[in-house]
Amino acid sequence: MFDPGFLWGAATSSYQIEGAVTEDGRGPSIWDTFATTPGAVRGRDTGAIAADHYHRFPGDIALMAQLGLRAYRFSLAWPRIQPTGSGPANQRGLDFYRRLTDTLLDHGIQPWPTLYHWDLPQPLEDAGGWPVRDTAERFAEYAALAHEALGDRIARWTTLNEPWCSAFLGYGTGRHAPGRREPAAAVRAAHHLLLGHGLASEAIRDSARVGITLNLTHVTPLSAEPADLDAARRIDGMQNRLFLDPLLRGAYPEDVLDDLGEVTGTGHVRDGDLKRIGAPLDYLGVNYYAPMLVAGSPTPAQSAYVGSPLTRVTDGGRPKTAMGWEIDERGLLDLLLRLKADYPAVPLYITENGAAFDDVVEQDGEHEVVHDADRIAYLDGHLRACAEAIGHGVPLKGYFVWSLLDNFEWSFGYGPRFGIVHVDYATQRRTPKDSARWYAEVIRRGGL
Ligand code: FCB
Repeated sequence: MFDPGFLWGAATSSYQIEGAVTEDGRGPSIWDTFATTPGAVRGRDTGAIAADHYHRFPGDIALMAQLGLRAYRFSLAWPRIQPTGSGPANQRGLDFYRRLTDTLLDHGIQPWPTLYHWDLPQPLEDAGGWPVRDTAERFAEYAALAHEALGDRIARWTTLNEPWCSAFLGYGTGRHAPGRREPAAAVRAAHHLLLGHGLASEAIRDSARVGITLNLTHVTPLSAEPADLDAARRIDGMQNRLFLDPLLRGAYPEDVLDDLGEVTGTGHVRDGDLKRIGAPLDYLGVNYYAPMLVAGSPTPAQSAYVGSPLTRVTDGGRPKTAMGWEIDERGLLDLLLRLKADYPAVPLYITENGAAFDDVVEQDGEHEVVHDADRIAYLDGHLRACAEAIGHGVPLKGYFVWSLLDNFEWSFGYGPRFGIVHVDYATQRRTPKDSARWYAEVIRRGGL
């Protein structure tokens, strides 16, 4: 059961919804550059306009209030605040987030900002990006500027969103910005992202609560064959433990370091780094979409799992979302139970969970409607898993649906629609889907 203080929210991120990429002094980010690189994003879509939230945020917040959201998770675009990634703050960038947070507070909605949801200022990438240690220092400086300007309105800061993606999709497979394919650099990036989290936390912790959001999953081996068991150990190691262990236990998992040993040394990890990374967290954000069934592979394949080419992700045969991701709420329950069993207790929030489906806009008299029963079923199942986890004593304190609005889904462009509110990109009209009404009712009742 969800207690009355359970935090019900919805999530978005800056590059995916804001648009206005050259306004008010915003500098270019790696996603601006990547999105205009031929072949990088489906349909050559970019975030240049996106859901035009930069201009439409008052209406979007009014909509959030209508839905009864208690909290709104969004991200700050670093290049709005520091257009080149260093130096003094850009006042107009800060002003935007000040207006945004004030409007949220006026509507009784708790602002839940993430400092980094993948839009690194391009000049920092030009200087080496996350594989370079200096980027972590720059991140802490930016965090301090943001907190100094907005800390009077914002009680909690999430440092990073899904550092796994930044490191291994950004620098490993190259599917995300900046599109580099350098496995050893990806491993260094992972460490420097964690270090950036640690340094930023240090800079603002005295007067704020600080957390981080990870994309975690439940990994199961296809069979009890040694190759499959080893694949599961490796993928669980890279996806979950490489981040959880340093953050919650202050050390990298030895077996993962061994797996990575051939790709990269540990020369980039300096004395004292792990102490910083492992400083107590006020909360851990968990993004969950699908479980993973994995197997050993006889032939090496290039994958995001650096150092583990003899592994593959297999199909569990379950129904899938429009992303091709398997639908299985049991994976969320197993993941939450695992966090409770294996790690020191820390308040948990589901900071993203949701699904893309091929929505159809229909006309119902004068109104447009989207009957997204499949999305409601997905959310309902996953919220039931949350309730069950709470029943088992998991300290789960809140849930944010991904996403409030349809938006720019990274290398997939505007194709996949994750919103509980439909966005017509030609007119920017917002249409709450059935799932939005359903979610509003869940919030109103305080549960299912
Ligand atoms: C997560 C991202 C988020 C969104 C969802 C579908 O990995 O954090 O921005 O793209 O996936």
